[in-house]
Amino acid sequence: MGSWCRSRVLFVAWSSGPARRRARRGAEHGRRTIGGPPLLEVERVTKQFGGLTALDDVSFVVRQGEVTGLIGPNGAGKTTLFNVVSGFVPPTRGRVAFQGGTVTGLPPHAIARRGLARTFQIVRPFPGLSVHENLAVGA
Ligand SMILES: Nc1ncnc2c1ncn2[C@@H]1O[C@H](COP(=O)(O)OP(=O)(O)O)[C@@H](O)[C@H]1O
Ligand SMILES: [Mg+2]
Repeated sequence: MGSWCRSRVLFVAWSSGPARRRARRGAEHGRRTIGGPPLLEVERVTKQFGGLTALDDVSFVVRQGEVTGLIGPNGAGKTTLFNVVSGFVPPTRGRVAFQGGTVTGLPPHAIARRGLARTFQIVRPFPGLSVHENLAVGA
């Protein structure tokens, strides 16, 4: 199950276990959503770097029980979207909500405290911590 938005990125969501069974029941009743209540809501997010529009009116919802993939060619805006969602970069327009609460404008550590954390493409472990401690930081 996927959906296009106006940016050049594609969101793909799928579910397993209880969420998949709920989805099947939902399908029988003509509902199109899968998974449970919304966890992450991205509403009409635009990010401009000067004259470059990296994200153009991006909206999607990730629901409890879903696994969502974000795919797109180099430069499509995937990393920028992760940066906006996790608070590393403020959006030019739009809103991000986690578990029903707006997180737009909060610093990354405040968003992480609410339970929304990210990892980085380039792995940079803390040399002074053990492997277990490094994993715990990203968990
Ligand atoms: N801090 C920045 N300043 C200016 N342009 C940026 C910045 N970050 C990303 N971009 C530009 O935004 C576009 C999307 O980049 P990015 O989100 O890194 O794409 P992806 O992760 O999908 O490869 C690219 O054109 C990139 O050059
Ligand atoms: Mg990237």
